[in-house]
Amino acid sequence: MMASRMDPIIQVDGLTKNYGKFTAVNGISFSVNKGEIFAFLGPNGAGKSTTIKMLITLLRPTKGGAKIGSFDILTDSSEVRRIIGYVPQMVSVDGSLSAYDNLMLMARLYDLKAKERKGRINEILEFLNLEDKASVLVKNFSGGMVRKLEIGQAFVHNPLVLFLDEPTAGLDPVAKKSVWGHLVDLNKKFGTTIFFTTHNMDEAEDAATRVTIINQGKISAIGTPAELEKRTGKKNATLEDVFIFFTGDKLEEQGNFKDIKETRRTLGKRG
Ligand SMILES: Nc1ncnc2c1ncn2[C@@H]1O[C@H](COP(=O)(O)OP(=O)(O)OP(=O)(O)O)[C@@H](O)[C@H]1O
Ligand SMILES: [Mg+2]
Repeated sequence: MMASRMDPIIQVDGLTKNYGKFTAVNGISFSVNKGEIFAFLGPNGAGKSTTIKMLITLLRPTKGGAKIGSFDILTDSSEVRRIIGYVPQMVSVDGSLSAYDNLMLMARLYDLKAKERKGRINEILEFLNLEDKASVLVKNFSGGMVRKLEIGQAFVHNPLVLFLDEPTAGLDPVAKKSVWGHLVDLNKKFGTTIFFTTHNMDEAEDAATRVTIINQGKISAIGTPAELEKRTGKKNATLEDVFIFFTGDKLEEQGNFKDIKETRRTLGKRG
């Protein structure tokens, strides 16, 4: 049977993570359909990164589980890894290598056939409009270019699902727009399911087919942006209103604190 776009590709069932006595993710369940752009929103410390790390098999759940496609994150972790890509919250490219060599590293890691690697890398560089930067050392890249390259790395093996943990944190509005242009393109052209977190409600509003709000390790709402906005009972509600309604948080303070605490280190500063 052909897979339709309404088939679930991520099924999360009672997923739980304790760090010692502290429960960071508390029995969450939800599903994501094939081809969705799914926003996973919540305040700092809500459990977003922990959830992603469990779904991509980097972190073992304390209880519960999930399936990606037909694969179980607990028992089929190597199959899961083959069909997912991951862009972590922290910088994941090597500043001392060129863009091309960073992509080659991933092409090898993901076991692309030797004779296919070069073509695939050039395809990705072209897709990301980085073809003229192929041989530039990444420590000389802007934050937006780094982020695009990280997306390219996560996409080398053409995954079915791409997990992105705050893909636009610390980027200027133009770079943000460019990153989102590419993500939406990936989704449209290849049907890639996109699961992302952000503290920027505008981009979730613009891009997401559905939104989940997680607060203190529990899901407090799931729906389309329009559905959730309706549930706030407020006229002309925005996703910002939704966030405040379902988390009881003030987004402005959140954003500022976040910016101070965790603006992405650029490779320029590091390198
Ligand atoms: N390795 C760890 N050991 C102990 N506690 C942890 C660990 N990793 C995360 N935590 C705690 O678990 C909770 C959830 O963290 P997580 O990183 O998943 O949050 P988040 O929603 O991604 O937050 P942010 O928006 O700041 O990235 C936080 O209270 C955090 O301090
Ligand atoms: Mg996080």
